[in-house]
Amino acid sequence: MRHIISISDFTKKEIDEIVKGASRMIKHAKEKIAPPQAKTKKKPKVSLLFLEPSTRTLGSFEEAARILGWPTKIISGKEGTSLMKKESLANTVRMMAIQGTDILILRTKEEGTARFAAEILEKSGFEKISVINAGDGANQHPTQTFLDRLTILKELGRLKNFIFGFVGDLKYSRTVHSLLSSFSLEDNVKFKFVSCPETKLPQKYKRNLDYVESDSLEDLKDCDIIYVTRIQEERFTDPLELERVRGKFKITKEVLEGFKKSVKIMHPLPYVDEISPEIRLDKRVIIDKQAWYGIPTRIYLLLWANKKRFEKVEKESLPKIEKEILVDMEIEKYLAKRKKEEKYFRPIRNGVVLDHLPVGTGDKIKKCLIFAKVLKENSVIHLIENVPSRKMKIKDVLILENAFLTEDLYGLIRVIAPQVTFNVLKDGRFKKIKVKLPEKILSFNSLLSCPNKLCITNLDPEAKPKFQIIKVENEKFILKCEYCEREFEREEIIKTI
Ligand code: NCD
Repeated sequence: MRHIISISDFTKKEIDEIVKGASRMIKHAKEKIAPPQAKTKKKPKVSLLFLEPSTRTLGSFEEAARILGWPTKIISGKEGTSLMKKESLANTVRMMAIQGTDILILRTKEEGTARFAAEILEKSGFEKISVINAGDGANQHPTQTFLDRLTILKELGRLKNFIFGFVGDLKYSRTVHSLLSSFSLEDNVKFKFVSCPETKLPQKYKRNLDYVESDSLEDLKDCDIIYVTRIQEERFTDPLELERVRGKFKITKEVLEGFKKSVKIMHPLPYVDEISPEIRLDKRVIIDKQAWYGIPTRIYLLLWANKKRFEKVEKESLPKIEKEILVDMEIEKYLAKRKKEEKYFRPIRNGVVLDHLPVGTGDKIKKCLIFAKVLKENSVIHLIENVPSRKMKIKDVLILENAFLTEDLYGLIRVIAPQVTFNVLKDGRFKKIKVKLPEKILSFNSLLSCPNKLCITNLDPEAKPKFQIIKVENEKFILKCEYCEREFEREEIIKTI
């Protein structure tokens, strides 16, 4: 991996190593002198494509590049780009590559854009460009996590065994999402999440953490660190909801006095009114130091990304579909047996019968098969809907005569129709096959879609939905969009077509 896209792509060991590396850059950032590693044969070009406002992230990357002596190209705001002329993000990113970018730092309001940009670059033959995610909507902000962890390490002295409070907009704050993804139970950190019901932390970030939730600042009394966040106004779709949550939590002098004496107040910045001016320069409020740690952190991250550009990377391929053969017999025997039972459809000798499809999915799968071009000139599709079934009461059956499925279709259909059995009739044999739930599925555009309207898969015509299957509980599983990283139930992602 040569990109910095999501904290969940990094192991604990890798995260710790990066924070250690960032710590070694402190003296270089202070003295503003490039570390020896900055001397490379060719100076990499660092491009900052910031399509959402930024003061700290953009500025500290720029300062880091300046200290390294590397050239920068800065695009700040969508207004100056051809995105305003409806150019796609994929084409904008390609243009940055054509114009000599070696490290692309990207910030967008859309989610999953950094991962998509990295894929587009790889596909377009720009395999030596590293992409750094400087914030993709409410999803991730991994470089902030490295600087936040460096801050905690330097100012608290440890990244384990402490009580960590979070307050404000925990629903939309990407800095919180990334930072929490870097902790797990083994760190022995206790978390306290304080927010309004409307800005509660999404469930997926609480997984693997020891936490309590409340709506009162009082509950943060025993915290060693309190991470305050701004209400992310720009992400709200309901103005009334925004009104309800605005100005709810303010760290005033009085509130601060109620906290632990040694408490440290962090904030990714910018703040609006959640930190009172009267405590702005209080020693316990370490926000300026925290912002400064962005410079050594980003010096290290630029060095890291530049080094990784030259490492060989394995091409990503979908994991193999695992099949279980339940029955394997001669076709004639099978047909003889079948004849007696079959009332609803004519048996075939060559092709696939998709049985036990939930009612309504037969038609969707049929469209998908047509789209996937599995049909040949002599192929026929029969869709039989609302068939009485012993196992399912009522089901759809799809018969594919003189055509067969590709491997990825087996996986996709298994996700859409969990109880599906594939009856394959080929070369004189009948095989009844069950497919294990795959780890990942790709969608044919017409079948699955990410319900998140801000996910890049809904916004760029070149972005195709891709889901990871991440949790199985008695046939229940959750699908995680590989781009925006949001999680959904199966029913939510099957498009109604
Ligand atoms: C944050 C961001 O953009 O996510 N700022 C930052 O990068 N330091 C937080 C915010 O905007 O509230």
